[in-house]
Amino acid sequence: MLSEKMQKQLKKESPIRRAFEEGKRLEKIYGPENVFDFSIGNPGAEAPGGIKKSVLKLMNKNPMELHSYMCDAGYETVRIRIAETINARYGTDFKEHNIIMSSGAAGAMNIAMYSLINPGDEVIVIKPYYPGYASFIDNWNGKLVSVKPDPEDFQPDFEDFEEKITEKSKLVIVNSPNNPTGAVYTEETIIRLAGIMKKKEKEYGHEIYLISDEPYRELVYKEKEPPYWTKYYADTLVAYSFSKSLSIPGERIGYLVVPDEVSGSKDLIKAVRIATGMLGFVNAPSLFQRVAAECLEEKVNIEYYRRNKNLLYDKLCELGFEMKEPEGAFYLFVKVPGGDEKAFLSAAHSCNILLVGGTAFEYPGYARISFCVSFNKIRRSLPAFERLAKKLKVQGGNKFGEKSS
Ligand SMILES: Cc1ncc(COP(=O)(O)O)c(C=O)c1O
Repeated sequence: MLSEKMQKQLKKESPIRRAFEEGKRLEKIYGPENVFDFSIGNPGAEAPGGIKKSVLKLMNKNPMELHSYMCDAGYETVRIRIAETINARYGTDFKEHNIIMSSGAAGAMNIAMYSLINPGDEVIVIKPYYPGYASFIDNWNGKLVSVKPDPEDFQPDFEDFEEKITEKSKLVIVNSPNNPTGAVYTEETIIRLAGIMKKKEKEYGHEIYLISDEPYRELVYKEKEPPYWTKYYADTLVAYSFSKSLSIPGERIGYLVVPDEVSGSKDLIKAVRIATGMLGFVNAPSLFQRVAAECLEEKVNIEYYRRNKNLLYDKLCELGFEMKEPEGAFYLFVKVPGGDEKAFLSAAHSCNILLVGGTAFEYPGYARISFCVSFNKIRRSLPAFERLAKKLKVQGGNKFGEKSS
């Protein structure tokens, strides 16, 4: 008999995975060129050339050195390099002990939550949010508490945020650039959120930790980098991932930053290292720790995503759909014309377009389009979107936006 927790999970079934499987089914019937699967966030831009070079070079190393177990936090040399790079970029002062290598951002968040959450502790997330958070919080029997966004720009609703922080709040998760909205939190947003959390830490007399979940940090369409959270709020942990920044999601490589300024940082660092072992991962993948460290200056081609975004965003606006232009990541979050999400997804399906409804992100009435597919696929999907607009009699302009940038 399965555990009660797993029985519940089985009943939930991921709408993203479901749409992805449905895409595969439709492709068999209509041919891959006639199916437009925008369901999953699998990065389409090729991994930078440095990755392959680094793998090939590393394979000439002594295999005993390359494939062995190492310190549970990861190779010291790798962590030194990562700390130095963050320090150079953001003016921080991290040392290798502040960096714990992990199996992607998902692994980083889970070792942090394992170390911090007691059953019943409240974890605050801001809607709409990556569905993985609900599962991760449930892993540790935490209670997910969601906060409204500002529907105009998908920055958080500060009043709601302040109201939702209670005596039981232990952790806040933020994600910028955001999946699924593409919003990037401004410095003003970060200062306001940090101010509220500092006030509440004082009021309740205990720490309220923050995890900044940053798999999309490098994927921004404006010149300005998203601000680095640790400079604004002392109790911040950063969950970083190379999945999207280097297009290597299957390699499961990322890290958690635990700054010395975080309350109880010495014990927390020990705890997250132990958690890596307790969860059975033991250490982050050895080869890709080294590859990532050698490729910290490498970048995926952001133009690949920008071109897709511009073409699709402009076309959807022209057709009368409403959405905010993404500032980062590779998702468009479209308002469902007429508001009936199920009917919209079904109409899209009948045009061979597969999307994920906002309900999956606890934000019904919207749908997410992952535009990380090939430019060709985007181009070929435009007549299908035209058919969809016609079918739904979409009209009116996009109140969110101007022309793409
Ligand atoms: C917001 C967000 N956080 C975390 C993850 C997990 O990423 P990783 O592959 O680094 O575990 C994803 C993956 O899509 C994501 O979109």
